[in-house]
Amino acid sequence: MQSDSLGGTAQTQDEEGPDALPDTSPAAPSYEPREAILEVRGLVKHFPLTQGVVVRRHVGAVRAVDGVSFDLRPGETLGLVGESGCGKSTVAKLVTSLEAPTAGSIRYKGEDVTRLSGRALKAVRRNIQMVFQDPYTSLNPRMTVGDIVGEPFDIHPEAAPRGERRRRVQELLDVVGLNPEYVNRYPHQFSGGQRQRIGIARGLALRPEIIVADEPVSALDVSVQAQVVNLMERLQDEFGLSYVFIAHDLSVVRHISDRVGVMYLGKIVEIGTEREIYEHPTHPYTQALLSAVPVPDPAAGEQRTRIVLEGEVPSPANPPSGCRFRTRCWKATERCAREEPPLEVPAGFAHAEGPAHHPSACHYAEEKERIVPE
Ligand SMILES: Nc1ncnc2c1ncn2[C@@H]1O[C@H](COP(=O)(O)OP(=O)(O)OP(=O)(O)O)[C@@H](O)[C@H]1O
Ligand code: SF4
Ligand SMILES: [Mg+2]
Repeated sequence: MQSDSLGGTAQTQDEEGPDALPDTSPAAPSYEPREAILEVRGLVKHFPLTQGVVVRRHVGAVRAVDGVSFDLRPGETLGLVGESGCGKSTVAKLVTSLEAPTAGSIRYKGEDVTRLSGRALKAVRRNIQMVFQDPYTSLNPRMTVGDIVGEPFDIHPEAAPRGERRRRVQELLDVVGLNPEYVNRYPHQFSGGQRQRIGIARGLALRPEIIVADEPVSALDVSVQAQVVNLMERLQDEFGLSYVFIAHDLSVVRHISDRVGVMYLGKIVEIGTEREIYEHPTHPYTQALLSAVPVPDPAAGEQRTRIVLEGEVPSPANPPSGCRFRTRCWKATERCAREEPPLEVPAGFAHAEGPAHHPSACHYAEEKERIVPE
């Protein structure tokens, strides 16, 4: 277990103990759609592939993100999951304007952020902040915690008058469960969990409405993960935040998310409420991913069918025609190579009420037996 102490003296103020993440209750109320704060449509990011040293020629493109659409509603958490390289971080960088898209739109409260520049873009960026994965490398080791957490005020001086900054930073440390007296200490004096709290405090400094968290707990020990996830949930309630929460750990995403999007090779292949995706997945890729999730009850685990995916994820520089998942899908037919399945409620479920009624990009979408035991 990773220690969350600082030279034996520092204590986080909301230690919840080393509990594993509790399962979300299946009886949780279904999600009520509200107007979106963020509308992402047809988002594309291609990185050019070049060859040659003297004369650089374009020889293709890595299609990191290739037509991603989703809504984020006020106060909700949208989880994004998928294997390494499927484009999760690229989506995060596009949504926070750290990268410019090749195509598509990102509307924040109705305004297309991709068309903004200068002051207008800066104002929007203030409201959409990023929390990064690795608390070991994302904090500058030569800066004090006070300077790190207060850095956003250098970029947005209007957010806190100079004389106010130290007090604001101390407040932020307090809010994330760190001792405000540690403002002059350096990142190496903190444990991984505490460093991630510092990263979250920095993300909160400008009082954003949206936080995009890219694998915020993946580098942490499991017991510390639960504390940081619980902290993020508390802050969400306290500040009315909306989250895009990215992770490859399906259990963590289930715990925190209201809705979940499953990504494969630059696309979302299935999206729905936490219950729809985890208990009623209709896309073969989601079903395979979920069948591999370890379950707490070994007896229940033995009863379910484990779907082992054959082969490697194809290169995003040369994705398969039609359905991108077809080279690993046990249900693939000739139609799958020819026709790309749209991300929509499958025809078979279009008129049916119930949890299978959610978008799934598969020509042969169907419910399997429950893959995740209750
Ligand atoms: N700046 C870049 N230039 C070229 N290719 C890139 C660049 N950034 C990402 N890629 C490629 O785009 C694809 C998607 O990468 P991305 O980092 O978004 O995936 P990810 O889902 O976040 O993966 P991981 O789970 O490993 O973090 C990968 O094939 C990656 O190699
Ligand atoms: S469209 Fe075909 S290849 Fe793609 S997931 Fe469905 S069955 Fe598999
Ligand atoms: Mg990533």
